Amino acid sequence: MKTYLALISTAVLALSACSQEPAQPAEASATASAASVVSSEAPAADTASETVAAAATDAACEVVVESTDQMTFNTKEIALNKACKEVKLTLKHTGTMPLSSMGHNVVISDSKDVDAVLADGAKALIDNNFVKPNDERVLAFTKLIGGGEEVSINIDTAKFTAGGNYEFYCTFPGHSGLMRGKVVVS
Ligand code: CO
Repeated sequence: MKTYLALISTAVLALSACSQEPAQPAEASATASAASVVSSEAPAADTASETVAAAATDAACEVVVESTDQMTFNTKEIALNKACKEVKLTLKHTGTMPLSSMGHNVVISDSKDVDAVLADGAKALIDNNFVKPNDERVLAFTKLIGGGEEVSINIDTAKFTAGGNYEFYCTFPGHSGLMRGKVVVS
């Protein structure tokens, strides 16, 4: 009987030891993470400046262009930084008019190709976003969007030369007179 009790008490001890085991690593890891929080406070300034630098890079690799029911873009210039492998361009249509009557896109080409891209785009009709399919003069383009819509593309900056003469414009017939600007590549 004493042996039996001893076994039970041993078992209880063993159980209690077991039940404490999960707590111990938790406490240990809590202590460890507390320690790591403390130790990470020292280089916090460096981390913050790295974050700022990363944010600046991200900003340079993203462009947002707004378009309106008044047949305008909100900017006359888009900057492409070749330090970015790709620049994400987002076109927003802040108006309410439908694509069929006030559709907008962003097409980018060398300045010398603008007239030809526009002429062939008009012939390509609305189902092709007024962009001739596989037009090699077109360096980047978004599809046409209507009021309330937005679209994003990734522009391959390897197609551009720093300091070159590039333009962006809407190829919806009749729009490029107002909807046209420079693409500045650095
Ligand atoms: Co347009």
